[in-house]
Amino acid sequence: MNNNDSVNPSNTQKTAAKRILTGIKPTGTLHLGNYVGAIRPAIESIQNSDDEAFFFLADYHGIIGCSDPAVIHESTKSIAATWLACGLDPERVTFYRQSDVPEIPELAWILNCSCSKGLMNRAHAYKASVDINIDNGVDADQGVTMGLFGYPVLMAADILMFNATHVPVGRDQIQHIEMARDIAGTFNHKYKPLFTMPNAAVDDDTPLLTGLDGRKMSKSYGNTIPLFGEFNPQANPEKQMHKAIMKIVTNSQLPAEPKDPNDSAVFEIYKAFATPEEIAAMRAQFSAGIGWGDAKQALFEKINSEIAPFRARYQELMANPKELEEILQMGADKARRHSRKQLDKTRRAIGIRPLAKLK
Ligand code: TRP
Repeated sequence: MNNNDSVNPSNTQKTAAKRILTGIKPTGTLHLGNYVGAIRPAIESIQNSDDEAFFFLADYHGIIGCSDPAVIHESTKSIAATWLACGLDPERVTFYRQSDVPEIPELAWILNCSCSKGLMNRAHAYKASVDINIDNGVDADQGVTMGLFGYPVLMAADILMFNATHVPVGRDQIQHIEMARDIAGTFNHKYKPLFTMPNAAVDDDTPLLTGLDGRKMSKSYGNTIPLFGEFNPQANPEKQMHKAIMKIVTNSQLPAEPKDPNDSAVFEIYKAFATPEEIAAMRAQFSAGIGWGDAKQALFEKINSEIAPFRARYQELMANPKELEEILQMGADKARRHSRKQLDKTRRAIGIRPLAKLK
Protein backbone atom coordinates (compact mmCIF):
# COMPACT_ATOMS: atom_id res chain seq x y z
CA MET A 1 0.00 0.00 0.00
CA ASN A 2 1.27 3.42 -0.87
CA ASN A 3 0.88 5.41 2.30
CA ASN A 4 2.39 8.51 0.78
CA ASP A 5 -1.10 9.17 -0.37
CA SER A 6 -2.38 9.95 3.09
CA VAL A 7 -4.95 12.61 2.63
CA ASN A 8 -3.99 14.70 5.62
CA PRO A 9 -0.28 15.43 5.42
CA SER A 10 -0.64 18.00 8.19
CA ASN A 11 -0.91 15.25 10.77
CA THR A 12 2.07 15.17 13.07
CA GLN A 13 2.66 11.77 14.59
CA LYS A 14 5.37 11.65 17.24
CA THR A 15 5.99 7.94 16.90
CA ALA A 16 7.36 6.45 13.71
CA ALA A 17 5.32 3.25 13.86
CA LYS A 18 2.09 3.31 11.96
CA ARG A 19 -1.05 1.88 13.37
CA ILE A 20 -3.30 0.77 10.55
CA LEU A 21 -6.97 0.11 11.14
CA THR A 22 -9.78 -0.74 8.79
CA GLY A 23 -13.27 -2.19 8.99
CA ILE A 24 -15.52 -4.00 6.59
CA LYS A 25 -19.28 -4.34 6.90
CA PRO A 26 -20.56 -7.93 6.91
CA THR A 27 -23.53 -7.47 4.60
CA GLY A 28 -22.89 -9.88 1.73
CA THR A 29 -20.23 -12.04 0.18
CA LEU A 30 -17.08 -10.55 -1.25
CA HIS A 31 -16.28 -10.26 -4.93
CA LEU A 32 -13.11 -9.92 -6.96
CA GLY A 33 -13.30 -6.11 -6.77
CA ASN A 34 -13.12 -6.30 -2.96
CA TYR A 35 -10.22 -8.73 -3.25
CA VAL A 36 -8.17 -6.57 -5.63
CA GLY A 37 -9.16 -3.24 -4.05
CA ALA A 38 -9.05 -4.02 -0.34
CA ILE A 39 -8.09 -7.52 0.79
CA ARG A 40 -5.00 -8.15 -1.33
CA PRO A 41 -3.39 -4.71 -0.75
CA ALA A 42 -4.18 -4.79 2.98
CA ILE A 43 -2.62 -8.22 3.47
CA GLU A 44 0.41 -7.37 1.33
CA SER A 45 1.03 -4.11 3.16
CA ILE A 46 1.07 -5.90 6.50
CA GLN A 47 3.35 -8.66 5.31
CA ASN A 48 6.05 -6.19 4.30
CA SER A 49 6.10 -3.88 7.28
CA ASP A 50 6.37 -3.55 11.05
CA ASP A 51 3.16 -1.59 11.24
CA GLU A 52 0.58 -2.54 13.80
CA ALA A 53 -2.68 -3.58 12.22
CA PHE A 54 -6.29 -3.76 13.38
CA PHE A 55 -8.82 -5.28 10.97
CA PHE A 56 -12.38 -5.81 12.02
CA LEU A 57 -15.88 -6.77 10.95
CA ALA A 58 -18.07 -3.72 11.42
CA ASP A 59 -21.25 -5.60 12.27
CA TYR A 60 -22.82 -2.73 14.22
CA HIS A 61 -22.39 -0.68 11.06
CA GLY A 62 -23.79 -3.56 9.02
CA ILE A 63 -27.15 -3.50 10.78
CA ILE A 64 -27.66 0.13 9.76
CA GLY A 65 -28.37 -0.80 6.16
CA CYS A 66 -29.29 -4.46 6.49
CA SER A 67 -32.06 -5.75 8.71
CA ASP A 68 -31.88 -9.40 7.65
CA PRO A 69 -30.38 -11.29 10.62
CA ALA A 70 -29.43 -14.26 8.42
CA VAL A 71 -27.44 -12.05 6.07
CA ILE A 72 -25.57 -10.38 8.92
CA HIS A 73 -24.80 -13.73 10.51
CA GLU A 74 -23.80 -15.62 7.36
CA SER A 75 -21.75 -12.83 5.96
CA THR A 76 -19.86 -12.32 9.21
CA LYS A 77 -18.82 -15.93 8.88
CA SER A 78 -18.05 -15.69 5.18
CA ILE A 79 -16.09 -12.45 5.36
CA ALA A 80 -14.04 -13.60 8.36
CA ALA A 81 -13.27 -16.84 6.49
CA THR A 82 -12.36 -14.87 3.37
CA TRP A 83 -9.78 -12.66 5.07
CA LEU A 84 -8.18 -15.60 6.82
CA ALA A 85 -8.18 -17.77 3.71
CA CYS A 86 -6.53 -14.97 1.72
CA GLY A 87 -3.62 -14.94 4.13
CA LEU A 88 -4.50 -12.65 7.01
CA ASP A 89 -2.44 -13.86 9.96
CA PRO A 90 -4.50 -13.43 13.14
CA GLU A 91 -1.36 -13.63 15.28
CA ARG A 92 0.16 -10.70 13.43
CA VAL A 93 -3.02 -8.65 12.98
CA THR A 94 -5.61 -7.87 15.64
CA PHE A 95 -8.64 -9.31 13.84
CA TYR A 96 -11.97 -8.93 15.60
CA ARG A 97 -15.68 -8.32 15.41
CA GLN A 98 -16.78 -4.83 16.39
CA SER A 99 -19.65 -6.11 18.53
CA ASP A 100 -17.23 -8.17 20.65
CA VAL A 101 -15.62 -4.96 21.85
CA PRO A 102 -18.40 -3.30 23.87
CA GLU A 103 -16.12 -0.36 24.67
CA ILE A 104 -16.58 0.83 21.07
CA PRO A 105 -20.30 1.64 21.27
CA GLU A 106 -19.69 3.08 24.74
CA LEU A 107 -17.08 5.42 23.33
CA ALA A 108 -19.44 6.25 20.45
CA TRP A 109 -22.00 7.46 22.96
CA ILE A 110 -19.48 9.66 24.71
CA LEU A 111 -18.33 11.11 21.38
CA ASN A 112 -21.97 11.70 20.40
CA CYS A 113 -22.23 14.00 23.37
CA SER A 114 -19.57 16.38 22.12
CA CYS A 115 -20.13 15.98 18.38
CA SER A 116 -22.29 18.70 16.90
CA LYS A 117 -25.41 17.69 15.02
CA GLY A 118 -24.46 20.14 12.27
CA LEU A 119 -21.38 18.08 11.47
CA MET A 120 -23.54 14.99 10.91
CA ASN A 121 -25.98 16.96 8.75
CA ARG A 122 -23.17 17.30 6.22
CA ALA A 123 -22.45 13.56 5.87
CA HIS A 124 -22.76 12.44 2.23
CA ALA A 125 -24.51 9.14 2.95
CA TYR A 126 -27.17 10.76 5.11
CA LYS A 127 -27.65 13.64 2.68
CA ALA A 128 -28.03 11.23 -0.22
CA SER A 129 -30.93 9.48 1.56
CA VAL A 130 -32.59 12.82 2.28
CA ASP A 131 -32.14 13.95 -1.34
CA ILE A 132 -33.77 10.80 -2.65
CA ASN A 133 -36.74 11.38 -0.34
CA ILE A 134 -37.07 14.99 -1.46
CA ASP A 135 -36.90 13.94 -5.13
CA ASN A 136 -39.64 11.39 -4.44
CA GLY A 137 -41.80 14.02 -2.77
CA VAL A 138 -41.92 12.17 0.57
CA ASP A 139 -40.89 13.29 4.04
CA ALA A 140 -37.18 14.17 4.02
CA ASP A 141 -36.45 11.84 6.94
CA GLN A 142 -38.43 8.86 5.72
CA GLY A 143 -36.47 5.67 6.44
CA VAL A 144 -33.57 7.63 7.92
CA THR A 145 -32.61 6.02 11.20
CA MET A 146 -30.53 7.45 14.00
CA GLY A 147 -28.05 4.69 13.09
CA LEU A 148 -27.59 6.13 9.62
CA PHE A 149 -27.42 9.66 10.94
CA GLY A 150 -24.82 8.76 13.57
CA TYR A 151 -22.86 6.34 11.36
CA PRO A 152 -19.77 8.61 11.30
CA VAL A 153 -19.67 8.82 15.11
CA LEU A 154 -19.54 5.04 15.51
CA MET A 155 -16.86 4.95 12.84
CA ALA A 156 -14.92 7.65 14.70
CA ALA A 157 -15.15 5.49 17.84
CA ASP A 158 -13.78 2.49 15.87
CA ILE A 159 -10.78 4.53 14.85
CA LEU A 160 -10.12 6.72 17.90
CA MET A 161 -10.47 3.80 20.31
CA PHE A 162 -7.20 2.39 18.98
CA ASN A 163 -5.47 5.67 18.18
CA ALA A 164 -5.11 4.53 14.58
CA THR A 165 -2.78 6.67 12.50
CA HIS A 166 -3.65 5.28 9.06
CA VAL A 167 -7.05 4.14 7.87
CA PRO A 168 -7.03 2.45 4.45
CA VAL A 169 -10.35 3.25 2.82
CA GLY A 170 -11.95 3.87 -0.54
CA ARG A 171 -12.52 7.44 -1.70
CA ASP A 172 -16.16 7.32 -0.59
CA GLN A 173 -15.00 7.03 3.02
CA ILE A 174 -12.64 10.02 3.13
CA GLN A 175 -15.31 12.30 4.54
CA HIS A 176 -15.84 9.87 7.42
CA ILE A 177 -12.15 10.03 8.32
CA GLU A 178 -12.26 13.82 8.20
CA MET A 179 -15.22 13.70 10.56
CA ALA A 180 -13.29 11.40 12.90
CA ARG A 181 -10.54 14.02 12.99
CA ASP A 182 -13.08 16.69 13.68
CA ILE A 183 -14.65 14.65 16.48
CA ALA A 184 -11.23 13.88 17.98
CA GLY A 185 -10.25 17.55 17.83
CA THR A 186 -13.40 18.67 19.59
CA PHE A 187 -12.97 16.14 22.39
CA ASN A 188 -9.24 16.79 22.79
CA HIS A 189 -9.88 20.51 23.05
CA LYS A 190 -12.86 20.28 25.36
CA TYR A 191 -11.42 17.71 27.79
CA LYS A 192 -7.97 16.26 27.32
CA PRO A 193 -5.80 15.38 24.30
CA LEU A 194 -6.54 11.66 24.35
CA PHE A 195 -7.12 10.88 20.70
CA THR A 196 -4.64 10.62 17.85
CA MET A 197 -5.57 12.31 14.56
CA PRO A 198 -6.17 9.57 11.97
CA ASN A 199 -5.26 9.86 8.29
CA ALA A 200 -7.20 8.37 5.42
CA ALA A 201 -4.81 6.15 3.45
CA VAL A 202 -6.14 6.13 -0.08
CA ASP A 203 -4.04 4.21 -2.51
CA ASP A 204 -4.27 5.49 -6.05
CA ASP A 205 -2.26 2.54 -7.35
CA THR A 206 -4.91 0.03 -6.35
CA PRO A 207 -6.94 -0.88 -9.41
CA LEU A 208 -10.67 -0.26 -9.47
CA LEU A 209 -11.84 -3.50 -10.95
CA THR A 210 -14.08 -3.47 -14.01
CA GLY A 211 -17.30 -5.45 -13.72
CA LEU A 212 -19.05 -7.85 -16.11
CA ASP A 213 -20.82 -4.98 -17.88
CA GLY A 214 -17.77 -2.73 -18.22
CA ARG A 215 -18.76 -0.43 -15.34
CA LYS A 216 -16.90 -0.46 -12.02
CA MET A 217 -17.40 -3.83 -10.31
CA SER A 218 -19.92 -3.23 -7.56
CA LYS A 219 -22.51 -5.21 -5.65
CA SER A 220 -25.04 -2.46 -6.32
CA TYR A 221 -24.66 -2.88 -10.11
CA GLY A 222 -25.03 -6.66 -9.91
CA ASN A 223 -21.99 -7.02 -12.20
CA THR A 224 -19.58 -8.85 -9.90
CA ILE A 225 -17.44 -11.96 -10.09
CA PRO A 226 -17.76 -13.74 -6.72
CA LEU A 227 -14.48 -14.42 -4.95
CA PHE A 228 -15.41 -17.74 -3.37
CA GLY A 229 -18.96 -18.17 -4.59
CA GLU A 230 -22.18 -17.47 -2.77
CA PHE A 231 -23.25 -18.90 0.60
CA ASN A 232 -24.78 -21.94 -1.04
CA PRO A 233 -22.47 -24.79 -0.05
CA GLN A 234 -23.78 -26.96 -2.91
CA ALA A 235 -22.49 -24.62 -5.59
CA ASN A 236 -19.00 -25.27 -6.90
CA PRO A 237 -17.15 -21.96 -6.40
CA GLU A 238 -14.66 -22.56 -9.21
CA LYS A 239 -17.49 -23.20 -11.66
CA GLN A 240 -19.35 -20.14 -10.41
CA MET A 241 -16.29 -18.03 -11.08
CA HIS A 242 -15.84 -19.54 -14.55
CA LYS A 243 -19.48 -18.96 -15.38
CA ALA A 244 -19.32 -15.31 -14.30
CA ILE A 245 -16.16 -14.70 -16.34
CA MET A 246 -17.79 -16.18 -19.43
CA LYS A 247 -20.56 -13.59 -19.00
CA ILE A 248 -18.25 -10.58 -19.31
CA VAL A 249 -19.74 -8.33 -21.95
CA THR A 250 -17.66 -8.00 -25.14
CA ASN A 251 -18.27 -6.51 -28.56
CA SER A 252 -19.27 -8.78 -31.41
CA GLN A 253 -15.90 -8.99 -33.13
CA LEU A 254 -15.15 -12.42 -34.53
CA PRO A 255 -12.11 -14.56 -33.74
CA ALA A 256 -9.10 -13.46 -35.80
CA GLU A 257 -10.25 -9.85 -35.92
CA PRO A 258 -7.69 -7.64 -34.13
CA LYS A 259 -9.18 -6.34 -30.87
CA ASP A 260 -8.56 -3.19 -28.87
CA PRO A 261 -7.37 -4.20 -25.38
CA ASN A 262 -8.02 -0.71 -24.05
CA ASP A 263 -11.70 -1.11 -24.72
CA SER A 264 -12.22 -4.47 -23.08
CA ALA A 265 -13.36 -5.48 -19.60
CA VAL A 266 -11.62 -8.84 -20.13
CA PHE A 267 -8.28 -7.09 -20.57
CA GLU A 268 -8.96 -4.62 -17.75
CA ILE A 269 -9.55 -7.42 -15.27
CA TYR A 270 -6.60 -9.44 -16.61
CA LYS A 271 -4.32 -6.51 -15.79
CA ALA A 272 -5.20 -6.70 -12.10
CA PHE A 273 -3.87 -10.26 -11.86
CA ALA A 274 -1.01 -10.52 -14.35
CA THR A 275 2.67 -9.54 -14.35
CA PRO A 276 3.84 -6.78 -16.74
CA GLU A 277 5.23 -9.47 -19.09
CA GLU A 278 1.95 -11.38 -19.11
CA ILE A 279 0.04 -8.17 -19.75
CA ALA A 280 2.29 -7.35 -22.73
CA ALA A 281 1.78 -10.86 -24.09
CA MET A 282 -2.00 -10.59 -23.75
CA ARG A 283 -1.94 -7.21 -25.46
CA ALA A 284 -0.14 -8.85 -28.39
CA GLN A 285 -2.72 -11.62 -28.48
CA PHE A 286 -5.51 -9.05 -28.69
CA SER A 287 -3.81 -7.42 -31.68
CA ALA A 288 -3.39 -10.86 -33.21
CA GLY A 289 -7.13 -11.43 -32.90
CA ILE A 290 -7.59 -13.83 -29.98
CA GLY A 291 -11.23 -14.99 -29.85
CA TRP A 292 -13.35 -13.73 -26.93
CA GLY A 293 -13.92 -17.26 -25.63
CA ASP A 294 -10.17 -17.93 -25.53
CA ALA A 295 -9.43 -14.57 -23.93
CA LYS A 296 -11.97 -15.26 -21.20
CA GLN A 297 -10.58 -18.73 -20.64
CA ALA A 298 -7.08 -17.24 -20.26
CA LEU A 299 -8.50 -14.70 -17.82
CA PHE A 300 -10.20 -17.42 -15.80
CA GLU A 301 -6.99 -19.43 -15.60
CA LYS A 302 -5.01 -16.39 -14.53
CA ILE A 303 -7.44 -15.44 -11.75
CA ASN A 304 -7.92 -19.02 -10.70
CA SER A 305 -4.19 -19.59 -10.31
CA GLU A 306 -4.18 -16.86 -7.66
CA ILE A 307 -7.47 -17.71 -5.93
CA ALA A 308 -7.58 -21.52 -6.07
CA PRO A 309 -4.96 -22.00 -3.33
CA PHE A 310 -7.17 -19.97 -0.93
CA ARG A 311 -10.35 -21.82 -1.75
CA ALA A 312 -9.68 -24.97 0.23
CA ARG A 313 -8.92 -22.98 3.36
CA TYR A 314 -12.07 -20.91 2.84
CA GLN A 315 -14.23 -23.99 2.62
CA GLU A 316 -12.54 -25.56 5.62
CA LEU A 317 -13.23 -22.46 7.73
CA MET A 318 -16.81 -22.19 6.49
CA ALA A 319 -17.36 -25.79 7.56
CA ASN A 320 -15.79 -25.13 10.94
CA PRO A 321 -17.36 -22.06 12.55
CA LYS A 322 -15.87 -23.04 15.90
CA GLU A 323 -12.38 -22.37 14.59
CA LEU A 324 -13.53 -19.01 13.20
CA GLU A 325 -15.17 -18.09 16.48
CA GLU A 326 -12.00 -18.95 18.40
CA ILE A 327 -9.94 -16.75 16.12
CA LEU A 328 -12.39 -13.87 16.52
CA GLN A 329 -12.42 -14.26 20.30
CA MET A 330 -8.63 -14.21 20.39
CA GLY A 331 -8.81 -10.99 18.36
CA ALA A 332 -11.41 -9.51 20.70
CA ASP A 333 -9.15 -10.27 23.68
CA LYS A 334 -6.27 -8.48 22.01
CA ALA A 335 -8.45 -5.53 21.00
CA ARG A 336 -9.94 -5.18 24.46
CA ARG A 337 -6.52 -4.89 26.05
CA HIS A 338 -6.41 -1.53 24.28
CA SER A 339 -10.04 -0.55 24.39
CA ARG A 340 -10.53 -1.05 28.12
CA LYS A 341 -7.67 1.32 28.86
CA GLN A 342 -8.74 3.88 26.31
CA LEU A 343 -12.34 3.90 27.51
CA ASP A 344 -11.21 4.19 31.10
CA LYS A 345 -9.10 7.23 30.27
CA THR A 346 -11.97 8.74 28.33
CA ARG A 347 -14.45 8.24 31.12
CA ARG A 348 -12.10 9.77 33.64
CA ALA A 349 -11.56 12.74 31.36
CA ILE A 350 -15.29 13.47 31.32
CA GLY A 351 -15.72 13.00 35.07
CA ILE A 352 -17.08 9.48 35.17
CA ARG A 353 -15.02 7.49 37.64
CA PRO A 354 -15.48 5.64 40.94
CA LEU A 355 -16.27 7.88 43.89
CA ALA A 356 -13.87 5.95 46.10
CA LYS A 357 -11.73 2.85 46.07
CA LEU A 358 -13.58 -0.06 47.62
CA LYS A 359 -11.80 -2.87 49.47
N1 TRP B 1 -17.69 2.66 6.70
C1 TRP B 1 -16.77 1.68 6.19
C2 TRP B 1 -17.29 1.20 4.82
O1 TRP B 1 -18.47 1.24 4.58
C3 TRP B 1 -16.63 0.51 7.12
C4 TRP B 1 -16.04 0.92 8.42
C5 TRP B 1 -16.66 0.96 9.63
C6 TRP B 1 -14.70 1.38 8.62
N2 TRP B 1 -15.80 1.40 10.58
C7 TRP B 1 -14.60 1.68 10.01
C8 TRP B 1 -13.60 1.57 7.78
C9 TRP B 1 -13.41 2.19 10.55
C10 TRP B 1 -12.42 2.09 8.33
C11 TRP B 1 -12.33 2.37 9.70
O2 TRP B 1 -16.51 0.76 4.02
